[in-house]
Amino acid sequence: MPEFGKAQAGPKRTAEEIKVLKAFSAFSTYRGKMFNPEDLFNRLKRADPGFYTRSECESIAHKLDRIAALKKEKNAVLLAHNYQRPEIFEVADYTGDSLGLSLQASEVESADVIVFCGVHFMAETAKIVSPDKIVILPNIQAGCSLADTADADDVADRIEELKAEYPDLGVVCYVNTTAAVKAQSDACCTSSNAAKVVIAMPNSAILFLPDKNLARYVAQEAPDKTIIAWDGQCDVHNNLQPEAIQRIRDNYPNLKVLVHPECRDDVVKLADAVMSTSGMVDYAIKSDSDQFLAVTECGLSDLLAIQVPNKKFFRACNVCRYMKMITLDNIIESMIKMQPQIELEENLRQKAERSIRHMFELTDPDHVPVALRQMSEVGE
Ligand code: 13P
Ligand code: SF4
Repeated sequence: MPEFGKAQAGPKRTAEEIKVLKAFSAFSTYRGKMFNPEDLFNRLKRADPGFYTRSECESIAHKLDRIAALKKEKNAVLLAHNYQRPEIFEVADYTGDSLGLSLQASEVESADVIVFCGVHFMAETAKIVSPDKIVILPNIQAGCSLADTADADDVADRIEELKAEYPDLGVVCYVNTTAAVKAQSDACCTSSNAAKVVIAMPNSAILFLPDKNLARYVAQEAPDKTIIAWDGQCDVHNNLQPEAIQRIRDNYPNLKVLVHPECRDDVVKLADAVMSTSGMVDYAIKSDSDQFLAVTECGLSDLLAIQVPNKKFFRACNVCRYMKMITLDNIIESMIKMQPQIELEENLRQKAERSIRHMFELTDPDHVPVALRQMSEVGE
């Protein structure tokens, strides 16, 4: 039986804060060459020994030194999603899932610039919660097949239509949406808190968008609510097949199968635990088991291989081409040019910010990020 909702408590705030503080102090004491090619080689080869050769790591170290120097020069922090290329983790001040990244983005105080290594909706979320910072997305083409399934005008039409049928309708959007969709939603959620947000909503009927797989998972966890699912999906997760997972499981009976809730039902049914990407990392570190299969985007298996070297990780994953659009070269170029920047019209940003703030208020009212609390106090 899958262990649902393991990661719903969200990241431990104090541990996260300590991690960021450590990263910030490392970055502020930067004096010149920092990255050792041999250390990089020994770490990164765990993800892909064919690609991360000694000569590749020489070149990577050189680029990482350049990025570290640019971070100091521009007073920038670099946030990276767990699916990014492994070399990016080396220079990131914080690596995490969507929830962790939105928390971190709202708590960046000492920097002027956030370099966001992830996809467009994530960088947009950083701008929503940190409007005074310059937010750079190194490759503006880095979109999301799931976010693309919910056009803001179509969402507005559907809300109007459903409100005629369900006067008490609430709207919950997954973070994988544009700011224009967040602005129309009562609350946002991420893969680590989706069921918790829906259960805490005062409404009995919820339009949940845009992921139909996550909506189904939430409906199982929140049987008292009527969940109306938007018909969207992530191409990366929806194409993962149960047969491949079953084959590996048959050969390794002690294996723990960790599944992202964006996967189909027949895949989720094979899970030992269903959780966010950071939930999977925590699970693998803390579990007594030493063999795992992370059923999600392949970058997570790379991250696990690097961060948890004493355990074995099998692969049944697909690559998200958008997540891999960010490279060390375009990080350098974007930091030199300070482009492309994420810009948002202020009225829209404020409405979108409310749905993100509401997510924190519903799930962890004592730990609403200070910046968001202040925005609500000044009536935004
Ligand atoms: P997480 O928040 O679990 O990292 O998921 C983000 C995402 O885009 C999954 O495809
Ligand atoms: Fe979007 Fe899917 Fe890529 Fe996640 S893995 S960023 S949901 S396309």
